[in-house]
Formats: sequence, C-alpha cells, structure tokens
Amino acid sequence: MSSIRNDYKKMVFYQIWVRSFCDGNGDGIGDLYGVYDKLGYIKSLGVDAIWLCPVYPSPNADYGYDISDYKNIHPDFGTLDQFRKVLDKTHELGMKLIMDLVVNHTSDEHPWFLESRKGKDNPYSDYYIWRDKPNNWESLFEGKAWEYDETRGQYYLHIFSKKQPDLNMDNPRVREEVKSIMRFWLDMGVDGFREDVINFISKKEGLPDGIPFVPAVNGIFNYKDGPHIHEYLSEFRKVCEEYDCIQIGEGPLTTVKTALMYITGKHKSLDMMFSFDHMMADCLFTEYIHRPFSLKKLKHAFSKWQYSINGKGWNTLYLENHDHPRVISRYGSERFRRESGTMLAASYIFQQGTVFIYQGQEIGMTNIRLRDIEDYKDISSKTNFHKYHLKDTIEARLRRIHLSSRDSSRTPMQWSSARYAGFSSVRPWFNVNPNYKRVNVAKDEKDPNSILNFYRRCVALKKMSRTLTYGQYREFFPDSEQIYIYERTLGKQRWLIICSFAKHPVRVHFPREYAGKKNQLILCNYRETDKNDLCFRPYEARIYRFPAGDEKSQLTD
Ligand code: NOJ
Repeated sequence: MSSIRNDYKKMVFYQIWVRSFCDGNGDGIGDLYGVYDKLGYIKSLGVDAIWLCPVYPSPNADYGYDISDYKNIHPDFGTLDQFRKVLDKTHELGMKLIMDLVVNHTSDEHPWFLESRKGKDNPYSDYYIWRDKPNNWESLFEGKAWEYDETRGQYYLHIFSKKQPDLNMDNPRVREEVKSIMRFWLDMGVDGFREDVINFISKKEGLPDGIPFVPAVNGIFNYKDGPHIHEYLSEFRKVCEEYDCIQIGEGPLTTVKTALMYITGKHKSLDMMFSFDHMMADCLFTEYIHRPFSLKKLKHAFSKWQYSINGKGWNTLYLENHDHPRVISRYGSERFRRESGTMLAASYIFQQGTVFIYQGQEIGMTNIRLRDIEDYKDISSKTNFHKYHLKDTIEARLRRIHLSSRDSSRTPMQWSSARYAGFSSVRPWFNVNPNYKRVNVAKDEKDPNSILNFYRRCVALKKMSRTLTYGQYREFFPDSEQIYIYERTLGKQRWLIICSFAKHPVRVHFPREYAGKKNQLILCNYRETDKNDLCFRPYEARIYRFPAGDEKSQLTD
C-alpha cells in the first residue's frame, strides 16, 4: 500500500462535489451510490486520489459547508455504510480519499449551536463567539457578520451566512471536538483533509473593528491568520501525525508569504495550500469586480507561486473547483471550447505541484446562463444579485451573475446525451447545462482528440516524467498577452510548454537557448502538427522535450 504522505507530490487529485456528480438512487440528487459507480471512470483518468466535498448532514444553506453532524453522512448522499463502501473500493483501486474538514463554522442547526444559544451557562455556551455589541465586520455572504439571537439575547459571529455561526476555537473544548472529528474519519481509513477557510479559525483578540478596504470583506484582516493560528493548527497536526494522511489548507487571501508559514518551517502544520491569485486574472474575489481576462496577470500569479514555493514547500495546481465559474468560459473561449479546454489543461498540469481536476473540467463543461435569479441556487449568487449591482438593470445584473456564479461549477455532471445528461433518471435538483448533448463524457470517450482524452494524456505524461514532476520551473516572455511559455528542467533534461491564449494564429519564437536545438514534440492539442512550424493555431498547446545529449536520456527522466 503506498503512502500518501510520501507520494502526494506526484499525485493527481479529482475533486467531487457530490450533489452534482452522479445520482445512483434515482432521486435527482448526486450521492455516494453514484460516486461508487463512477470510481472506475475516475481511475481511468490516471487519478491517484479523490477529494470529496462535504458529505455530512447539512441544512444546505451553503450546500454542505454548513454542517449539522460531523460524524455522519447526509441522507441525500447515503449512509455511513455506503461511505465505507466508497472508501474501500477507492482503496482497492489504488486511490486515496480525502475529506473536507469544515471547522471554522457549523450550521446553526448543529446541536452545539442549539445548546449554545439557550444561555450563557450551559456546557456549549462558549462554543461560539457571542457579544453584546457587534463590531463593524462584514460577512462574506450576507451583510453584517453579526446576527442577534433573541433566545440568548446576544449577537453571534458568522463570517459566512447567518446559518453558519463561527466556532470559538479559543475554547479548548472546541479544539478537542475538532480532533475527535478528525480521528473519527482517520480511524475509518480516510487519507487526509482539505481544510476549509482554515486561516480564519483564530480571530484577533478583542475582535477589533476593521478598517474598510473593500466594504464587502471589512474585518478580514482581523479574523484571518490570527494570533493563535499556529498553536491550534499544530494541535491538529499532531493528530494527523499518528496516521498516514495529508492536510491541504484553503485560505482566502492567502499570500505566498503566509502559505510558506503554514507549509514550511517551524510552524509547518499543513502539507500544501490552495492559492487564489491565479483565479483573479479576470476579477477581484470572483464575485465582486469583473474585468477583462489578462494573460499577463494569470502568468504573473502562476510564476509568483512557482518561484516562491520551489525548493521550500509544494504547490497545489488547479483551475477549477466548486467555488469558481468554469475556466473555459473565463480564460478560454466557448467558441474554441475543445482547443481552449485542452490548452488550459497543459497550461497548469505541467507546472510544479500536485494537480487537482474538478468534476466536469475534464470534458470542458462551461458556464450556465439562467434567466431568473431565482433559478440560481447558491447563496452568494443570490445575495450579490440583490446587493452589489442595484443600479444596473436586471439583465445587466444577470449577466454579471452568469460570469461569476459558483453555480456554474455545480450543474449536474454531463455523462451522456441521454435525458438529464445521464446524471439521473429523474429531473435533477438543479438545471443541467443545455449544451449536454454536445458536451458529455460518452461523446468524449469515443473521440481520441477530445478534451477528456487530452486530460488523460497530460496526466499520464506528467506522471511518467521525473522532470515534469520535480523539475525547476522558469517562465519566458512574461509580457506577452498571447503566449505562455514555461520550461521544466532537471539536470540536463528540458521540457518546454507553449500555450497560445490567442483566438487567432500567432507566430511563436523559442526562447533563445532553445532555438535550433534538437527537440521532440511529445504532445499537442491539434492533429497534424509540424513541430518546426511555429505558427500556433488558436489556443494551440505544445509540449516539447529537448533530450539531454546522451543516449541514455529517457522520456521518464
Ligand atoms: C470555502 C468553500 O470552498 C466554500 O464553498 C464555502 O462556501 C466557504 N468556504 C464557507 O465554508
């Protein structure tokens, strides 16, 4: 049995947002029966591990990120027994499985909160953050970060929705609860955690007012990376050290500097962190401010993380997850869906880091356009629609929601051209993207040049080559707004990844040290490519190998 702690650097993860992945019991909601049925498919991508978004009981104010029982499975998704079956089969197939650990907040329907709100002198009264007077912090989802509770006669803090009260991590009993949750799942055999907004769990003492910089996130610098964060995380780390498992942190506004603090050095308490910078090449915090996509910005973010983490820690690589709209609709082109979807794959998979692929990304799913805000499901889409763009017409506001909504990544997975995209036998809980007849797994399986098969090739190539896995990264021509070129090198081995982000043909030049050198074109997203003709077609991607002079040099090096 391989060890995730030893191997995570060369692993490829597949992220599942269960509600929209596959409905196995015919009620219109994705579930663990569906996940079980699709494990073979996931394995066929070359994937080594699965990240399962929250599957715990939840009233779904934030679709699973508001948990009402940490040690159970949401009845919509199945039972603990079914979870064990998924876990066992995942392991049998040689894959690992990590879960979401969401402990900055619970649901307001969690028994701890129901007790806590009863009064100031019960065992759970200090499990949450209660105050007589609120400060000026804003919640990230709906208005002020404080809600008055009539029963208790005090305000409670909620950085996200009102239905997600923040836990008081300063209370040692709460930290013991977290450890017990971790043990519960680790004892069952899970292989680690993706830790939700983990940089928010320690708040500045006294909860001082924030100085507004962007009103919507006012207070964030007083509740992120707080004074006890390392102390608390190191307690959780100790639990993980008893098992073979890994911890991946998610932290909004994480900078390279803070990420390094968490993943290296004396405070090391996480194995990797997700960066957000490269998700802001066309926006500020996805939902707030939109601007045209800038390749320079994207490349700058990619390279900043590559250069700064290299040799010290280890990067995560992703372009999509359940919190962002689909990447083809943002950084690529729906018109050149196949070309841009495959090019985008090459643009990130071959960087240094652990690769994450989000369900549907591998078949090039795109954003959904809904006609009415009521048709959107996500709380942040709804509140943004009502809050940020009030001066705009309804159509203009809907256009912005279409660009930014997290719902676009949460439409049912498109398995086939059958009714409901083969996701379910009955009407699904959420709209299927009407493009499912063109965009689906079954169709891509049959086409050797599909996005799906290109992902498979990229994954296989990355895993085969030591240089593409561990090599150094260097970017060329950072000022180009059309081309992204980076190299990966290890010893004498050299690879060059060239991606065109242009909708029209562009002439590319090899960096000076590569010009005229013997090369092999190992992968390209177009058929019939003359490796020496450097006129790149729209969204073309090529992966060249420049073999080391000696005869022993192998593709696998
Ligand atoms: C980050 C999660 O990825 C997101 O889906 C959720 O809404 C917030 N954290 C709050 O838990």
